[in-house]
Amino acid sequence: MTTADSTLEWWKTAVVYQIYPRSFQDTTGNGTGDLNGITERLAYLSDTLGVDAVWISPFYTSPMADFGYDVADYCDVDPVFGSLNDFDRLLAEAHRRDLKVIVDWVPNHSSDLHRWFVESRSSLTSPKRDWYVWQDAKIDGSVPNNWQSMFGGSAWTFDETTSQYYLHSFLPEQPDLNWRNADLKAAMFDTLRFWLDRGVDGFRIDVAHFIMKDPDFTDNPLAAAPTDGIEFRSFGGYDKWDHIHAKGHADVHAVFRDLRSVLDEYSGDRFSVGEIHIFNWDEWASYYGDGDELHMPFNFSLVWSDWSAAEIRRRVEGLEAALPTHGWPNHVFGNHDEQRLATRYGHRNARAAAVLLLTLRGQPTMYYGDEIGLPETDVPPERRQDPWEFRVPGMSRDGCRTPMPWTAAPGHGFSDPGTEPWLPFGEDAGRRNVEAQLSDPASILNLYRQLLQIRGTRSSLHKGSIEFIDDLPDGVLGFVRADADERTIVLVNFTEETKRTSTPDEFTLLISTDQQRSGIGPGVIRLGPNEALAIDPGPSAG
Ligand code: NOJ
Repeated sequence: MTTADSTLEWWKTAVVYQIYPRSFQDTTGNGTGDLNGITERLAYLSDTLGVDAVWISPFYTSPMADFGYDVADYCDVDPVFGSLNDFDRLLAEAHRRDLKVIVDWVPNHSSDLHRWFVESRSSLTSPKRDWYVWQDAKIDGSVPNNWQSMFGGSAWTFDETTSQYYLHSFLPEQPDLNWRNADLKAAMFDTLRFWLDRGVDGFRIDVAHFIMKDPDFTDNPLAAAPTDGIEFRSFGGYDKWDHIHAKGHADVHAVFRDLRSVLDEYSGDRFSVGEIHIFNWDEWASYYGDGDELHMPFNFSLVWSDWSAAEIRRRVEGLEAALPTHGWPNHVFGNHDEQRLATRYGHRNARAAAVLLLTLRGQPTMYYGDEIGLPETDVPPERRQDPWEFRVPGMSRDGCRTPMPWTAAPGHGFSDPGTEPWLPFGEDAGRRNVEAQLSDPASILNLYRQLLQIRGTRSSLHKGSIEFIDDLPDGVLGFVRADADERTIVLVNFTEETKRTSTPDEFTLLISTDQQRSGIGPGVIRLGPNEALAIDPGPSAG
């Protein structure tokens, strides 16, 4: 738990932990996690692990075409996850433990089974017609423009009832809401108030910048080749196009200013973080507005970084340089859409990544299971669930969404022993689980616990400045975190070789990924292969 600092809003110093609720804890024995399961595990989160806030992926009423990111009622809980009463209990219990609760909010699209869409599609004159994005076919009957669905194919589906096309940036079962309609906007802001009234502390906003598109529906141009060789991933052909007209229209900023006013109607520093995959730093930073839009856009830069000292430094410096004075940084290494960190970088580097995540400047978000080094699970074809995979083979996100193994016993403490979970456990769940790692002093879980403890008590780490250290051996990244009271030096060896570097004459070792490290000499440190460590150089060290 981070030491409270009354001069800073809670979300600046908090460590956030993302829960994918289907996979955290099942209390009903149906193989799918639920809200009561999260409540049962709050002691683990606050006391055993020591995080400050949880972000819970969607648990609203949903036909589950996209596992909850297709919302059929923004103001209720899907029976698979429990009830509103269960949510209220979860929230009260979390708050009793000083844990903040951030919920997901999905404003770009609803489910096609949402009553708004059912009404909207029923006739051209429906009062809700304009709540979604409808367009006529072109003269030749073809789709209104060349916009693509991220989940494959055209972003337009023809609806026979009224002979128009509706827009869906994702699945056809996820029609896009029309944020240019004032009634829709008001109704969506009321869904925020519904959860704010219940006491939630903030929102993670799904594909936040998608909500405003070009009102003229201009065709998108083909994408230029990536200019700097980074930030370019193929999404099965989606990235052939530069989607400039289908998302992020400049009018989005006015909506976020209004959204911020809604949050500011409430006391307690209610928080917003937008899922914004934009890799042009200036454009990305524009979502902070003048301190009057989102509290922060998620920074996904490290998720897609090579594991290299130079590359990580370049990205963190890019962020720091782009940040407006009122902006607070954040870092994340994984989520429910990305390949697991331990698979991307390997188990040893995953430990060093833990050190980085929890010592860089800004709000860190951890993804459930990363604290035990869960690798990507190889989900066999017959067990696959992700709709993206069914439309664009190779895009499955199932491997990073598998159930949390709590114990080695059958069912792994996640569900009843005889129940088949909605996605399979990884092969090594018998060995790699919370219980086993708690009893192993050298486990990655115990590393995370120590890191959280150190970060929470050291003000330099949770609110200090950051300055990179030059003149380190190749492949070593180093930075100093400092505030008025203390300094912390962090060194990360990205290589497989031992590296020597000089240090202040006197210092204290705070933590190392090598939990067996027996000592550390004055004046010089030998960093083992893939080792990351933090030291306290004392107040006056240079
Ligand atoms: C982004 C979410 O993170 C992802 O899981 C979801 O499929 C899409 N948005 C559509 O809502």
